[in-house]
Amino acid sequence: MKATTPQLLTIFGASGDLTFRKLIPAVYDLFVQGLLPDCFGVLGVGRTEFTDESFRERVAPGVREFANKRSDDPSFVERFLPMLYYQSMDPQDADQYDLLKARLTLLSEACGTMENVIFYLSTPPSLYGVIPFHLAAYDLHKQDQGFRRIIIEKPFGYDLASARELNRRLLSVFDEDQLYRIDHYLGKETVQNLLVTRFSNGIFEPLWNRNYIDHVEITAVEDIGVGDRGGYYDGSGALRDMVQNHLLQLVGMVAMEPPTVVDSTAIRNEILKVFQSLRPIKPQEVPDYVIRGQYVSSHIRGKYARGYREEKGVPQESRTETYLAMKFFIDNWRWGGVPFFIRTGKYLPTRVTEIVIHFKETPHRLFASAYGKTHHNNQLVLRIQPNEGILLKFGMKVPGSGFQVDVVNMDFHYEDLSNAYLPSAYERLLLDAMLGDSTLYSRGDAVEAAWKFVDPILKAWESNPEIPVYGYPAGTWGPEHADSLIGEGKSWRYPCRNLADDGSYCEL
Ligand code: BG6
Repeated sequence: MKATTPQLLTIFGASGDLTFRKLIPAVYDLFVQGLLPDCFGVLGVGRTEFTDESFRERVAPGVREFANKRSDDPSFVERFLPMLYYQSMDPQDADQYDLLKARLTLLSEACGTMENVIFYLSTPPSLYGVIPFHLAAYDLHKQDQGFRRIIIEKPFGYDLASARELNRRLLSVFDEDQLYRIDHYLGKETVQNLLVTRFSNGIFEPLWNRNYIDHVEITAVEDIGVGDRGGYYDGSGALRDMVQNHLLQLVGMVAMEPPTVVDSTAIRNEILKVFQSLRPIKPQEVPDYVIRGQYVSSHIRGKYARGYREEKGVPQESRTETYLAMKFFIDNWRWGGVPFFIRTGKYLPTRVTEIVIHFKETPHRLFASAYGKTHHNNQLVLRIQPNEGILLKFGMKVPGSGFQVDVVNMDFHYEDLSNAYLPSAYERLLLDAMLGDSTLYSRGDAVEAAWKFVDPILKAWESNPEIPVYGYPAGTWGPEHADSLIGEGKSWRYPCRNLADDGSYCEL
């Protein structure tokens, strides 16, 4: 593996939740595994007043609670904390960037970081277009002495126009290869394994097309509500929060053509082509192709569960969708006519992300099925989380006389590997940015192509408020109307916590 060079990670928004729960614990995990460069530092930046020492005290509990490697030698934490520094400043105020520049110079001299700096924007999105300009005003974007990279958190834009504008602003001061637009789904080990499953096996790819696949189903749901993120979420909704980015990236991985090589240009070119081939959903098709819902109060295992409109920061009359199911097509040679179904939602019965490839039935029904009339289809389930693994469902003869077929499971679970350590998404992505590998980051053109697909749906909802928002009781699988999307004789898979559980036993 390539080694990281000395560098500084500068996090804007350092007093925020993402830094506390994800970023610092991920850096710590890299530290424990010896993956950080010899000379390395994290400079937290924010308006809140901290000293280096009080910043370390603030983030230490996050490391102890959220790092994957927290149970390793506790003295690691003591050795890790001195790598963290803090600079208080207002990132909106251009005049204060001289403070930042002076601090970076000092740290790079002390630490020998050779001016290599990553800027991580973990701030409110309104600052994504502001901070890069201020950095540039102080020449902090220039790569004369070392590299300068900038990681931009989601949401990247609010719609197509704002995403384009943000790209334009960023590209007016940074080059595309300095920009790392993060989508943490691409950092998940199991998402990357989609490429390996498809392109390192001779048995799947020949079947991976319209001739053998009936439809593709992707689910990414959670068993909790919006919690204290109501203020943010109400301006976003499931389409912007999950579909435009995470779910479409999964679609890209499932549907792309084999890249010529494994590098950031080749892989991202193929993802872009998928997005460009998404058949636009016309405004009049939106009610039939896109089902939106919002959770209402209920009792889950005897406990009261708040409805979305009762959540903090959510207006009483809110029509923001907390659930979305949609059907669409990819108009290209491989996928012509194959429907894709995706769904996402808050407060469903369990937390699960998985992709189900539904293969076509055999051309002739030779045997009786143990399920009566319904014939079974082979399914390949790629479980992204939890209980990560792969499951293949196929027909097997029921022992005894005659030829009755039952469906059995063949499954692989990551936890069965002897070296089963799955790095967190942020750990993987931060390491990639440190190494200068942007393969698992979204490219500007792909982000715009994804917005181009999503934008007409947002516009249709805006101009036709009568398009229903269906209520669903918290803790259920969402509005019944989503079933009609899938079509007659088919159904969504209702996954359990454990990949291979189905039928009578199901732990949620
Ligand atoms: C985030 C969304 O990007 O992804 C959240 O803003 C969502 O609303 C989260 O809960 C889901 O990520 P994961 O990794 O828990 O599936």
